[in-house]
Amino acid sequence: MEVVARMSKKDRYAVFGSPIKHSKSPRIHQLFAEQTHQSFEYTAQEVLAEQFKESVDAFFSQGGKGLNCTLPLKELAWVYADQNTERAKLSRAVNTLAVQADGSILGDNTDGCGLIADLIDNHDIYMKNLRILILGAGGATRGIIAPILEQSPHQLVIANRTLEKARNLAEGFCDFGPIIGCGFAEIQGHQFDLIINATSASLYDELPPLTENLLAEAGVCYDLAYGKKPTSFVRWGVSHKAKKSLDGLGMLVEQAAEAFFLWRGVRPQTKPVIEVLNSARGFG
Ligand code: ATR
Repeated sequence: MEVVARMSKKDRYAVFGSPIKHSKSPRIHQLFAEQTHQSFEYTAQEVLAEQFKESVDAFFSQGGKGLNCTLPLKELAWVYADQNTERAKLSRAVNTLAVQADGSILGDNTDGCGLIADLIDNHDIYMKNLRILILGAGGATRGIIAPILEQSPHQLVIANRTLEKARNLAEGFCDFGPIIGCGFAEIQGHQFDLIINATSASLYDELPPLTENLLAEAGVCYDLAYGKKPTSFVRWGVSHKAKKSLDGLGMLVEQAAEAFFLWRGVRPQTKPVIEVLNSARGFG
């Protein structure tokens, strides 16, 4: 009984989403907790979109301190929050909910800064003056546009199968920097220093239509998706002589670190955690 009472006093966090079984977030936050000598509970819960409000209400009314929300819940989380950070408003998506001192719920989106941190801090890739291409114009793209434009690239091109979605995003963010939205046909004959795959094609081991000379010499490929094995886009980068061809595992750890900071006020070291996860999947 004593143990139960003590355990129930631990701060509680969780990740909600569907599917959630293979989520790495509990492991990442456990590693952060060990590293920073903190003690809390972090669980993964299967939550469908139609169960979202009820599940989040229950979690917070039972004393939960913070939530991560992943697919397909990020837009619902943005609507749910009492107030959202500026970057969450721009993304129209929230991956982190945090209880504030007054009991209200703050929504934040740490995905974009997670990507930037992985590129710069872990891989020394600076975006200033680069020609950058994002493949895809869905929710994942919306979350990374403003943070990328803040890095002053030469140009940011959004290419998408459905042209209108790329154009709409470019129009929506045109005040933030040089951005163009187009279809895949229009990027033919152009070259980019950094190509980011934000389509969901990797999840099905598919690839958007990419031309042979799309990647500039010594260019970098980055797939927001990740898996046990290199994604189809990471393999495309390797076979097109990318200087680096990376997947989104580093971004995942970095966005988690930013959420951890929001909840716990402490910034964990990410590199040792990335190393643990990479060696667990057999990546050097
Ligand atoms: P997310 O929130 O992960 O971004 P999404 O909003 O459903 O998911 O967006 C998925 C993106 O992947 C879209 O840009 C989609 O293109 P469309 O807008 O034309 O649907 C893109 N996508 C998915 N499968 C693709 C494929 N096989 N080839 C090219 N683009 C693909």
